[in-house]
Amino acid sequence: MQISKPPMPKYLKQDELTQECKDLLSSLPTESGWVASTFYKYQGFWHPCRHLQGILSCQKHFKAQHSDVILATTPKSGTTWLKAILFALMNRDQYFSKSKNINNHPLKSNNPHVLVPFLEIKLYLDDENPDLSLLKSPRLFSTHMPYVSLPNSVHDSQCKLVYLCRNPKDTLISLWCFTNKLRLEEMGTSSLEEVFEKFCKGVSMYGPFWDHVLGYWGESLKNPEKVLFLKYEDMKEKPTFHLKKLAEFLECPFSFKEEKEKVVEGILELCSFDKLSNLKVNKDGKLPSGEDCSAFFRKGEVGDWKNYLTTEMVERLDKICKDKFDGSGLQF
Ligand code: A3P
Repeated sequence: MQISKPPMPKYLKQDELTQECKDLLSSLPTESGWVASTFYKYQGFWHPCRHLQGILSCQKHFKAQHSDVILATTPKSGTTWLKAILFALMNRDQYFSKSKNINNHPLKSNNPHVLVPFLEIKLYLDDENPDLSLLKSPRLFSTHMPYVSLPNSVHDSQCKLVYLCRNPKDTLISLWCFTNKLRLEEMGTSSLEEVFEKFCKGVSMYGPFWDHVLGYWGESLKNPEKVLFLKYEDMKEKPTFHLKKLAEFLECPFSFKEEKEKVVEGILELCSFDKLSNLKVNKDGKLPSGEDCSAFFRKGEVGDWKNYLTTEMVERLDKICKDKFDGSGLQF
C-alpha cells in the first residue's frame, strides 16, 4: 500500500510572485534545488523563489523596533527548540511562578513556529506588508535570512539578534530527512549522495552554510551586545549555562528568587525534546502553511551523522569546513 504524502507547503509553490520579484528572478543565477525545482542566488545565498518573495517584502517593509528580538538560524539547527526557549524566557512572568499553572502555558497547545513567526517565510510571505502594530513589545520574530539580507531597520535599530547554528554534518542529515518529508510524491526522495554534493557546493536552502554562519559570527565578534552566537551542541551540553547567558544578553537575567524557584530548570524541561515532541499538538497538528508539526521533531541528538555519512563524505565535508572556517576562530 502506498502512503500518500501531505500537500506541498504553500511557501514552496512557485506562484503568486510580485512583478518586482519576477523581474529580479530573471536576472539571478540559478541551480536545481532540493525541494523546490529551482534555487536562485540572491545577495550570495540560494533561495527558492517564494522565499525570495518573502525576503524582498521583508527588506522593503519591516520596521524593526529597538526592543525587538530576532532569532536567526540556519535551517535545521534547532530553530524550533530555540523558538520555544525564547518564548518561554521572554514571557516567563506570565506563566512561571508558584501561583501559575504550567499546564496553561501556550507551548502546551501551540507549536513554537506558531508562537514565534518567521519574518520572510510566514509574515512577509502571507502578506506583502503585514500590520504588526498590534503585537505587544518586546516582539519576538525569527528568520533564516543571512546577515547581509536583513532589512536595513534591523541594522539601524538596537534590536537584538540571537543566532543559532549547528555542526554542518548534523545540519545536512537533518535537512536531508526533513526535505524528503516535504517533497511531493511524484518527485520521489533525494538520495543522500545527491544532496551531499549540492551541500558541498553551497547549494542548500539559505546556503552556502559556511557563509551564513560566518556572516553572523563576524557580527557577533564586532558587536556582541547586538548579536549572540550560539551552537546547538553547546546548548545541548550546557543548557542551564546558555539559557542564563541568553537571559543576560536579552537584559532580563534570572533573579535570585527565580533561580530558587527553579524557573531556569522549568523552562528547559518545558522546551525539552521529549516534552515538546510528545505533546498532542506537535504529534498530530499541522502548521497553517501545511507541514506536519511532527516533521520538526526527529531525533534531536548530536552526532546522528555517524549513522549516515561515509568516511569519504566526512573527510570531504571536514576539509571544506576547515578551509572555510580557517582563521575565523570558529570550529565545529
Ligand atoms: P534532527 O533532525 O537531527 O533530529 P529546526 O527546528 O531548525 O528545523 O531543526 C530541527 C532539528 O532540531 C531536528 O534535528 C529536531 O529533531 C531538533 N529539535 C527539535 N526540537 C528540539 C528540542 N526541543 N531539543 C533539541 N532538539 C530539537
